[in-house]
This record gives sequence, structure tokens and C-alpha cells, in this order.
Amino acid sequence: MAVATVAALLAALGGGLWLAARRFVGSRAQRLQGSADSGLMRGKTVLITGANSGLGRATAAELLRMGARVIMGCRDRARAEAAAGQLRRELDQAEGPRPDARAAGELVVKELDLASLRSVRAFCQELLQEEPRLDVLINNAGIFQCPYAKTEDGFEMQFGVNHLGHFLLTHLLLGLLKNSAPSRIVVVSSKLYKYGDINFEDLNSEQSYNKSFCYSRSKLANILFTRELARRLEGTNVTVNVLHPGIVRTNLGRHINIPLLVKPLFNLVSWAFFKTPAEGAQTSIFLASSPEIEGVSGKYFGDCKEEELLPKAVDELVARKLWDISEVMVGILK
Ligand SMILES: NC(=O)c1ccc[n+]([C@@H]2O[C@H](COP(=O)([O-])OP(=O)(O)OC[C@H]3O[C@@H](n4cnc5c(N)ncnc54)[C@H](OP(=O)(O)O)[C@@H]3O)[C@@H](O)[C@H]2O)c1
Ligand SMILES: *[C@@H]1O[C@H](CO)[C@@H](O)[C@H](O)[C@H]1NC(C)=O
Ligand SMILES: *[C@@H]1O[C@H](CO)[C@@H](O)[C@H](O)[C@H]1NC(C)=O
Repeated sequence: MAVATVAALLAALGGGLWLAARRFVGSRAQRLQGSADSGLMRGKTVLITGANSGLGRATAAELLRMGARVIMGCRDRARAEAAAGQLRRELDQAEGPRPDARAAGELVVKELDLASLRSVRAFCQELLQEEPRLDVLINNAGIFQCPYAKTEDGFEMQFGVNHLGHFLLTHLLLGLLKNSAPSRIVVVSSKLYKYGDINFEDLNSEQSYNKSFCYSRSKLANILFTRELARRLEGTNVTVNVLHPGIVRTNLGRHINIPLLVKPLFNLVSWAFFKTPAEGAQTSIFLASSPEIEGVSGKYFGDCKEEELLPKAVDELVARKLWDISEVMVGILK
């Protein structure tokens, strides 16, 4: 009996130490990566959607440190201003008191609700008036497995925000991106695209709603959109690539109910095994800033490396049909 108890205690202790070691090593690797390339983005303007939280916030922090002018496109001004204030303070602490040593860029908060085409249009109108250039657009904002809801324009919420809102946003900013070439578009998708399909007969899920399917469908749409856009942008020096960040500890799971009793276990597992936002943001940062991928377009990345896609994500006919229908849905058909 006593032996079993001691063995269990030792196993628990060993497990705890191992988890802590994993965390420690992880954050060390992250610090090392974060020490390079300051100033790489000086003079460049970057727009990040959903930049107040999770991956978007971590991406903003790093590109800001690299000297970029970072526009945070966020649906809630108060949350965005709070995040911007925090990012500025973190930067000041990291940079120290010498103002001449400061290489960092600046943060600009702008309201953008991707669940409203009116908001997307107003946002772009203002941005086009105020910004002489746009070097990088990062379509990062996303919503995950929410209960059934519709956007202001009647689209299923996940398809509406994750795909259609960004579709219109990109369309309206494409002229500025082309004028700022070489420029880049970065699309944040997810490995969960594998469980989706573009079911053209019910894009608004009015016949039936499956929240996991709809998330996966929206993330598959992100990839098909990237591939079709890359084809259309050939020869313009505007590139577009798509990525999956891995599993990252963010606010994305806000609509998932975890039973109270399981919560501590979930927190432990996610602390040990999920990426931190700064780790998860590495591929977004890489695609937005690295000279290594200059000229690369239409590709899918994970952990800063190109990855293979399933056949359904490289289907050109589906990509074109989705493009055409999206144009009709957001009202830009020429
Ligand atoms: N976390 C992961 O494990 C994981 C895995 C694969 C892919 N991803 C993708 O990573 C991206 C970022 O997610 P995250 O994990 O960083 O989650 P997060 O912490 O929840 O951040 C999502 C961001 O999107 C914003 N957003 C949601 N609806 C919006 C709308 N209608 N208009 C404008 N902004 C809106 C949120 O704004 P509020 O703060 O105002 O709600 C928030 O800033 C998403 O595209 C997600 O699909 C994440
Ligand atoms: C919902 O969709 C997911 C992903 O496509 C699938 O695995 C699951 O079986 C579906 N659930 C129902 C109830 O149809
Ligand atoms: C793209 O970039 C190359 C190399 O900088 C340049 O020669 C070419 O004119 C550019 N093309 C366009 C359409 O801007």
C-alpha cells in the first residue's frame, strides 16, 4: 500500500517537473527568437484584425517591436485601447529609459466589426483617407463554435466573420496594397479546415447548424480564398499566404463550456501543452516580415514551414465558385 502511494506521489511530482520544464524550455526558445530583427519593419504599415486579444495581440506586439506602424482593427474600442496601452507599457519596460535607443513603431486603434459589412466599408473608407500605404494585411480575427447567430447582413456568424468580412476587407484594401507593393497578405486559418466542406446549398446554415462544421468550413474558406487570390495577384508583387498557428491558449474557446470540475485539469493541460500566444504568433510574424519568403504566394504554413494541404483545400473549381458567390454575398459583383 505504502509503496503504491509513494510511487503515485513520485509520478505526480515527476510529471509536474516535466510539465514545468516544458514550459521553461518553451519560453526560453521564444525569448531567443524575439531578440532578432528589431527594426526590420521600420517604415512599414501593418493592419491586424482582432489585434486586441490572443494571436493578434501577440503579432501586434512583435511587429511593433520591429518598428512597424501597426493598425489594430478591432470591434470593441475600449478593449482595443486597453490592449494598445498595455502593449506600449510592455515595450517601454523592455526598451528601458533611453529614448534614442527606441526602435519601436506605433500603434493605431480603429473600429472594425467584421460581422457588419457597413462597418467594414466605413473602416476601409477611413483607412484609405488616412493611410498613404499598407504593406501588410493580416486577416487574423476569428470566432469559434459560437451558438447559431447571424451577422448584421444575415450571414451565419462564423462564415460571416472569418471569411466574408475579411473577403470584403481585402477587396477594398487591394488597391492600396498594390500601390504599396511589394506587399503581403497573411491569412490565419486552422488545421480544423480538414473537417469542413463548402456546402454551397446552405452557406448560411439555415437548414441545419453544426457549430464545429461551420468553424471548419470558414477555415477551409480562408484557404480557398488565399489560393484564388494568389492566382489573381500573380505579377503584382502582392503575395498572400495562409497559416495554421497550432493549438494556442487564447480567448478563442469562449463559447465552449467546460464543466467546473474538469476546469482545473483543462487549465493544467492547456498550460503544459498549448502554445502561448507569443509562440502561436510566430508563423504570422514570419509571413508578415521575413525576407526569406519574399515572392512566395498561395502557400500554407505551420511552424514557419510550408505544409501540404488536403485535395479539397486546393480544388480550383471550388475556390473560384466560392470567390464568385462571396462577391455576390458581400455586394461587390462587377
Ligand atoms: N487559439 C487557437 O488554438 C487557434 C487555432 C487555430 C486557429 N486559430 C485562429 O487564430 C485567429 C485568432 O484567434 P485567437 O486564438 O487569438 O482568439 P481570440 O483571443 O478570441 O482573438 C480573436 C480576435 O478576433 C476578434 N473578433 C471576433 N469577432 C470579431 C468581429 N466580428 N469583428 C472584429 N473582430 C472580431 C476578437 O475580438 P474581441 O476580443 O472583441 O472578441 C479578438 O480580437 C482566429 O482566426 C482563429 O480561428 C486559433
Ligand atoms: C458536426 O460536424 C463535425 C465536423 O464536420 C462532425 O465531425 C460531426 O459529426 C457533426 N455533428 C453532427 C451532429 O452532425
Ligand atoms: C515587382 O518587383 C520587381 C522586382 O522589384 C520589379 O522589377 C517589377 O517591376 C515589379 N512589378 C510590379 C507589377 O510592380
